[in-house]
Amino acid sequence: MWGFRKNSRGIGEDTCRVPNREDSSGVAVLLSNVSTAYPRSKNPALINVSLEVEYNTLTLITGPNGAGKTTLLELILGFLKPLTGVIRVLGFKMPKDSRKVRMLSGYLMQDFMKSPRETYTVMQVVSMGLAAYKGPLTPLNEKDLEAVRWAIKAVGLEGLEEKPIGILSGGQQQRAFLARVLVRKPKLILLDEPFSSLDPEGRKTISEIIDNVRRKLKSTVIVVSHDISPIIEYADKVVEMKSGRIVGVR
Ligand SMILES: Nc1ncnc2c1ncn2[C@@H]1O[C@H](COP(=O)(O)OP(=O)(O)OP(=O)(O)O)[C@@H](O)[C@H]1O
Ligand SMILES: [Mg+2]
Repeated sequence: MWGFRKNSRGIGEDTCRVPNREDSSGVAVLLSNVSTAYPRSKNPALINVSLEVEYNTLTLITGPNGAGKTTLLELILGFLKPLTGVIRVLGFKMPKDSRKVRMLSGYLMQDFMKSPRETYTVMQVVSMGLAAYKGPLTPLNEKDLEAVRWAIKAVGLEGLEEKPIGILSGGQQQRAFLARVLVRKPKLILLDEPFSSLDPEGRKTISEIIDNVRRKLKSTVIVVSHDISPIIEYADKVVEMKSGRIVGVR
């Protein structure tokens, strides 16, 4: 889930270029007849799903609880393996190349735990987005700090850098966690219910931020959301899921 990679000098360089392979296909995420089930579960979680997501587009995935939306994201990142079918992401074959794909991707997980007593500051939370690349004990260099400041500005949290995350509003916390995903400038951005607990105004603001950042980074974005308004206005494709299947694409 990285937008940076260490070069020979150990300094992070931007890896947000589309990998060479399959560039000509124009397809960032391809699922072909994919079915899967969770370990020890009798029922399939996804049944015969086929989907194409083009580079530099925003795809909205919607559908009721248990439809398979989160499962689809977990397959794309290789956290879950397909039982049948083919998955290619950013030109890589999944789940074989999961590590490479995660290096180039950012994932906002559903219901990411937020605690009212959390004392980490906005700056620290966003910096954590660089931790796996830096190692937890390596101090941030100027380029890293620049990326952190950029991400905080992109989500509109300037001025709140030193505030503990626990005292921020739900919408501000959501922005901070979004910044943590964006700080590595991922080529592929997967956001699972980024509007949960936001009011209509907050949904509008976060939708605008997602659209702005996507255009700036030229990233491919997949948003999973029950709340289709107003993000649907920015979507190039809307995928409707139900009972483990794709039941509509428009
Ligand atoms: N860890 C798990 N173990 C077993 N089954 C699971 C697991 N996670 C999800 N499932 C099952 O897989 C199916 C799809 O679940 P998934 O979480 O993908 O749905 P969703 O569309 O994201 O729902 P929601 O809107 O509630 O987040 C459901 O039937 C669910 O019960
Ligand atoms: Mg889900």
